[in-house]
Amino acid sequence: MSGRGLTDMNDLISLCKRRAIIFPSSEIYGGINSCWDYGPLGAELKRNIKEAWWHRVVQQRDDVVGVDTSIIMHPAVWRASGHVENFTDPLVDCKACKQRFRADHLKADRCPECGGELTEARQFNLMFKTYLGPVEESAAIVYLRPETAQGIFVDFRTVRDAARLRVPFGIAQIGKSFRNEVTPGNFVFRTREFEQMELEFFVDHRTDMEWFEYWVNERYQWYLDLGVRPEKLRRRPHEKDELAHYAKGCVDVEYEFPFGFSEIEGIAHRGTFDLSQHIEHSGKDLSYFDDLTGERYVPICVESSAGVDRALLTFLVDAYENDEANERVVLHLHPRIAPVKVAVLPLSKKAELIEKAQALRAELREEWVTAYDDAGSIGRRYRRQDEVGTPFCVTVDFQSLEDQQVTVRDRDTMAQDRIPIGRVREYLRERLKGNGR
Ligand code: GAP
Repeated sequence: MSGRGLTDMNDLISLCKRRAIIFPSSEIYGGINSCWDYGPLGAELKRNIKEAWWHRVVQQRDDVVGVDTSIIMHPAVWRASGHVENFTDPLVDCKACKQRFRADHLKADRCPECGGELTEARQFNLMFKTYLGPVEESAAIVYLRPETAQGIFVDFRTVRDAARLRVPFGIAQIGKSFRNEVTPGNFVFRTREFEQMELEFFVDHRTDMEWFEYWVNERYQWYLDLGVRPEKLRRRPHEKDELAHYAKGCVDVEYEFPFGFSEIEGIAHRGTFDLSQHIEHSGKDLSYFDDLTGERYVPICVESSAGVDRALLTFLVDAYENDEANERVVLHLHPRIAPVKVAVLPLSKKAELIEKAQALRAELREEWVTAYDDAGSIGRRYRRQDEVGTPFCVTVDFQSLEDQQVTVRDRDTMAQDRIPIGRVREYLRERLKGNGR
């Protein structure tokens, strides 16, 4: 498949807007910087990614359970976690053009836009603040969570006891997080509101490094299994000076976007830091008692933290092909995450064809997300499905009325098979290999 992969982000951004996959939020009011809405196909794609993660990390395992914790938590959580004090970026303003930058992203000490003089750097906390209840007073200040992980740590004891979990075990969750980023950008890569898929996996000091390596490889493999090309993906261990003081290791999974290799997920050995902080600040016992060995200890945490929106961007960028030879843009999305699995297309608007096509569609949608399209030439309709990544199109034509056969077209090879209409479901099951839902 020559030409697969995106070189210019604008091509993807305009496809996403044209097909209402992702587009600026509040557009009728002129949009709002770096806030994006997912339309019908984008919402399906996002859902499929989250389900693929949840299925693999939670449902298919005996040692992981899932939770769904509150976005607004007691403000003491963020003092204990260190976010109130340390979750900051150094900020500078240009005195001439008034643009704002992250000081640690600048290569020189002048404004990169106009060469103007910059202010002194000041620390800017990335947490969004709001008030709980109707009275705006400092006692009521709360934060929108900047990560989902802390909900897991504070619920550690309750979940462990209720689910009767033995170390090693994990607690996972998917949910929205918020960061008042100084420099959001690159489409949905860095935004102020985003979703995370996080796993906190608790282990003992004898097996911690083994588990750390296990999760690095397992999480890397997840992207490959969903079709990301291996030459575009890498694991980058953090340098010593990048590591938090409590961390024994951290590896980023990075993808080579048109704007360079960038982090899509981090796997971190967090030591006992988080649980110990919450033990100290809450005064509650969050240690673990092993009734087989008689040991009591605070488990070590190995974390994997992925961004839903970054994973989605990775899959879109990697799947994109401008197939000039066939005059089409195609998204080679893995069938597991493709928003629509099969489109049914009657060759013309003749009533008998529409009736037959709609009956087939009704049968197929019992099993898969389907589309139906009877507008425009068949070539254009194939291309409309190609550019949103639909793996199969089924065409009902005049001959179908006679011989009860239809044509199934494969998105990637464009090969067409003529098969009995009664066999379509089985044919797709074989090729989607349980990846349809
Ligand atoms: N609990 C650990 C944690 O939150 P992080 O490296 O700050 O670690 C983890 O974030 C992942 O969350 C990132 O790898 C990225 O995929 C996603 N993420 C972080 N900030 C983001 C933002 N501003 N926009 C979109 N995704 C973001």
